[in-house]
Amino acid sequence: MSITSGHSNQGPGKGPIIALSVLLLTALALGVVYVFPTVSNQGYAPDQPIPFSHKLHAGANKIDCKYCHAAVETSRHATIPSMNVCMNCHSVVKLDSPHIQNLRKHFQEGKPVEWVRVHELPDYVYFPHNRHVAKGLACESCHGEVKSMDKISQFAKLNMGWCLKCHEGVTTPKAVLARVRIEQKNPHGPIGPLHCTACHN
Ligand code: HEC
Ligand code: HEC
Ligand code: HEC
Ligand code: HEC
Ligand code: HEC
Repeated sequence: MSITSGHSNQGPGKGPIIALSVLLLTALALGVVYVFPTVSNQGYAPDQPIPFSHKLHAGANKIDCKYCHAAVETSRHATIPSMNVCMNCHSVVKLDSPHIQNLRKHFQEGKPVEWVRVHELPDYVYFPHNRHVAKGLACESCHGEVKSMDKISQFAKLNMGWCLKCHEGVTTPKAVLARVRIEQKNPHGPIGPLHCTACHN
């Protein structure tokens, strides 16, 4: 009773109008995404709770990336090293530094350092590090000259166009939609998968 009277109060013409507005707004939103496809966190370089320097560790002291990012060859995630890894050296190295004292305090209290995440794809994207590293791609091709960074910063755009550009040589969203034609045009074939479900499942 109350439902039908509520509906008739609204008037019969409003349902389609609302539906149409939703449609137009959606089209507008998609248009914005299309026109600005390159919105990204490129260059993002947050301060970290302990000023860890890649330039000092991976650069000057030549510590291998995989010594700390040990899972990068075997799993989807490269992973951030636990404090045990730091303690391999900092139980003896540079104990007079306030930063190392801070690190050791975290370690003794069993409180992990809360590193601020720099690179982060949306949850609906699947990116496996191991598969890329196994193909011989250097860390630098996606992360830039980490060895010379005091503070890590996001080097690549990490958007869909960036992934596809390497997988196929595709640069624009329009070209993505025409990916079947592009596959035919490329005489060597794609070097990485282009089908949607490879990265979205
Ligand atoms: C001594 C250990 C150590 C070594 C060696 C090391 N890293 Fe790291 N890496 C860390 C720690 C700790 C962090 C988290 C703090 C930060 O972001 O600075 C990190 C963060 C990163 C990040 C950013 C993670 C995020 O939040 O998105 C990238 C990318 C990275 N490292 C790449 C490399 C590369 C490439 C190399 C080799 C050239 C390397 N690392 C060598 C310890 C190390
Ligand atoms: C083909 C591009 C590519 C290559 C090559 C690559 N990375 Fe990454 N890396 C990424 C992307 C994309 C992310 C963000 C992943 C996410 O949010 O799921 C990332 C995130 C990270 C992170 C932080 C998050 C995590 O996965 O634990 C670290 C640390 C890292 N990479 C280190 C490395 C190191 C070290 C190498 C070389 C051994 C390397 N990466 C090679 C693209 C790459
Ligand atoms: C393989 C050895 C090694 C490992 C592992 C290592 N470091 Fe270091 N770290 C060094 C050396 C060497 C220095 C430079 C010491 C100097 O300046 O005399 C250093 C310096 C530092 C400094 C600068 C201290 C200052 O005040 O100048 C910080 C901070 C630091 N390390 C944090 C870390 C963290 C966090 C980890 C773990 C993710 C880590 N280190 C892992 C060898 C290591
Ligand atoms: C610098 C070049 C490069 C970039 C950038 C790149 N890829 Fe790839 N990707 C490759 C290559 C080469 C392969 C083929 C690996 C193989 O054949 O095992 C691949 C394979 C893959 C696969 C298939 C893995 C499997 O299990 O078969 C996925 C998923 C993937 N990439 C996701 C991504 C995503 C998501 C991004 C962007 C965030 C990205 N890639 C960026 C080069 C790249
Ligand atoms: C090589 C990996 C890869 C492939 C293949 C891929 N995508 Fe994506 N896609 C991504 C990444 C990374 C993002 C992250 C959002 C961004 O672009 O910033 C994304 C984002 C998206 C979004 C959200 C866009 C936005 O701006 O919020 C949609 C929709 C999407 N993809 C659809 C598709 C469709 C449809 C296909 C097949 C034609 C496809 N993707 C193939 C990697 C891929």
